[in-house]
Amino acid sequence: MAPKFKTEKVGIVGSGLIGRSWAMLFASVGYQVTVYDIVAKQVSDALEDIKLQLKTLEKDGLLRGTLNADEQFQCIKGSTDLATAVKGAIFVQECVPESLELKKKVFADLDKVVDDKTILSSSTSTTLPSLFSEGLKHKQQVIVSHPVNPPYYVPLVEIVPAPWTTQEVAKKTREIMQEIGQEPVSLSRQIDGFVLNRIQYAILNEVWRLVDDGIVDVKDIDKVISEGLGMRYAFLGSLETAHLNAEGMKSYIERYGETIYSVSNTSGPNPRMTQSKSADSICQQLNAMVPLDRLQERRAWRDACLTRLALLKKEMNKKYKQ
Ligand code: NAI
Repeated sequence: MAPKFKTEKVGIVGSGLIGRSWAMLFASVGYQVTVYDIVAKQVSDALEDIKLQLKTLEKDGLLRGTLNADEQFQCIKGSTDLATAVKGAIFVQECVPESLELKKKVFADLDKVVDDKTILSSSTSTTLPSLFSEGLKHKQQVIVSHPVNPPYYVPLVEIVPAPWTTQEVAKKTREIMQEIGQEPVSLSRQIDGFVLNRIQYAILNEVWRLVDDGIVDVKDIDKVISEGLGMRYAFLGSLETAHLNAEGMKSYIERYGETIYSVSNTSGPNPRMTQSKSADSICQQLNAMVPLDRLQERRAWRDACLTRLALLKKEMNKKYKQ
């Protein structure tokens, strides 16, 4: 029988929202996790919060992995010393705020204390890995593992190599993500916005154009996603959706390919939100739907929905084994 706990170490740098989630994911399969933060109170707060989250997940039957909540919590330690947190780790996940200067500083600090074996992975959602790894001694070990919030329920992780990241690092990162129960996608090279945000921006652009042109209002355009496309997209990607919407993709291309091309050509140039005449009206309509003082409540509802959806997806995926 495999031992309950692993001996391999994982370092988490930055113990905010995302750092805490990563710590829980690595501990769920028994990695020895050390959470580091530049602010000592953040480390103690993170440990307290993680303990509470693990207990709540266990009570609700949502805890991941095979270890119980106490065992998972035993795998997580805190540290206010970077070298202690990452020395000898097989994998370090950086989770500091989204600022290129800060990422550069943190990776330069990491570069000084790790050996040739540690994978240095960033949670960045927008910064190309080349921008904070260029010039580092260990730049071949740097990669992006971009999670989606909340990572405990939304399993996608985009793995984005810098031009000098070795294939071995990219492969091992993918394997580790699979091992902790996430769903990695591997990009062959870095590209602005990675993949998820490029698609998200394409949707936002079209949605903005349709509201800006007065075709539909905010409430109705959002309904198109939440009550229409999103229902399918929670289970199938857009290409498989198309494959199923005809007699296979070849027939979809024959039936709809030219229509899609000509409709798409009627979309205007990309909107610029900061200079758009519709910005005020779109903000007002959204504030009426979800007042700013109720954002937190709505986020909690969103996360509860995602929890239930994650369970449903698990059950449904088991029913259809490919
Ligand atoms: P956060 O603001 O909640 O936490 C950042 C933590 O980093 C804080 O605890 C702060 O004290 C610490 N920190 C600041 N400077 C540091 C340093 N030099 N060394 C060590 N720790 C330091 O940020 P959050 O939301 O957890 O985001 C972290 C990263 O994850 C960002 O790059 C963000 O873009 C990315 N990300 C965030 C998502 C989200 O929805 N929040 C989703 C996907 C990625």
